[in-house]
Amino acid sequence: MNTQKLGTLAVHAGEDEVLEVPSVNVPVYLSTTYRFADAAAAEAYLDDPRGKWLYSRLENPTVLAAERKLAALEGAEAALCFASGMAAVTAALLAVLKQGDLLLVSDALYGESLRLCRDVLAKFGVEVRSAPIAGLAQAVEEAPSNARALLFETPANPMARVADVPAVANACRRRGLTSILDATFATPVNLRPLSYGVDLVLHSATKYLNGHSDHLAGVVAGGKALVAEVEKVRRSTGANLDPAVAYDLVRGVKTLEVRVLRQNETALQVARALEGHPKVARVSYPMLPSHPDHALAKRLLRGGGGVLAFSAKGGYEAICRVHDALRIVARASSLGGVESLASIPVISSHRHATHAELAAAGIDRGTLRLSVGLEDPEDLVADLLQALERA
Ligand SMILES: Cc1ncc(COP(=O)(O)O)c(C=O)c1O
Repeated sequence: MNTQKLGTLAVHAGEDEVLEVPSVNVPVYLSTTYRFADAAAAEAYLDDPRGKWLYSRLENPTVLAAERKLAALEGAEAALCFASGMAAVTAALLAVLKQGDLLLVSDALYGESLRLCRDVLAKFGVEVRSAPIAGLAQAVEEAPSNARALLFETPANPMARVADVPAVANACRRRGLTSILDATFATPVNLRPLSYGVDLVLHSATKYLNGHSDHLAGVVAGGKALVAEVEKVRRSTGANLDPAVAYDLVRGVKTLEVRVLRQNETALQVARALEGHPKVARVSYPMLPSHPDHALAKRLLRGGGGVLAFSAKGGYEAICRVHDALRIVARASSLGGVESLASIPVISSHRHATHAELAAAGIDRGTLRLSVGLEDPEDLVADLLQALERA
């Protein structure tokens, strides 16, 4: 740099040399904007932005690294990262819906997603209709001609219900609906929805993908053309992921398979220990033969995931006592982290649900949702058994 002026040196000196360091890990590009060598380079970006850089609301190298990794895991042509799971759900829906369209939703859906559809999209003339998770394919077949998209989850929160993903995706293809599957609970380790014909898969990457309960993030993956439509919404709504969080997401995903396989095993061990306990009314985990979707789960999922639910025979008061007596498992909402978390759906994730919605989702007031972490499985079982003594 041909100057000794402190102000100019403070802004520019030294940085060029570190731009090409062959680091093993992806650098965090905290730049909001990128240099053009000349006007021709700026024009070239306008002609074809691929592999070029303009502004970090549109593209950022660290975020791109996370997107390429997640696209590879999903077997997708393209993936996009978002500032949260809800930002991902919102962008996917806004990309495919317009005024007058009907959106079908599964009745086993994360509460905030349901509110987004019912309270926000409805204001813009989108009709929202729910259908039971076990009858989604039929609901799609029978849907009126303005039906445009289906939003569903597998496994679904909190009873770990499993949809017949290939049948639902096929019905959507036949009827021209865009199928959007929130696979947060499954992760690409347990389910690859695009391989079953789903159009868009999305995740709250806040959960298993990042895996450490320290960042909000979301992802949408699918075919190039559809993802390009979602990207238009992301850039206009400003919902891109922060590059520092993208770095942590990249790091978290590196251990995803190891974590999820262990969580699959631990959750099954815990579910078996709880089933048949004299104070437990029922245990809901897809890899237990007693689960209503066990056959589907065996066919579609590599493992049942890290979330299970169980109900106390004594109802709400009894499950509150169990919840309060836990020593290792933390009393907290959310899921998918390295630490085990317990929450009571009727006072957490489903606090706004009506009686009818709770009944449709199969949730009673005495239900506790458990997200198993990476603690020793025997310690977790012991913690739950000692807490159940208070039930
Ligand atoms: C299944 C599912 N989808 C979406 C979300 C929303 O994700 P976020 O909290 O990252 O916005 C959640 C959050 O709990 C969830 O459980």
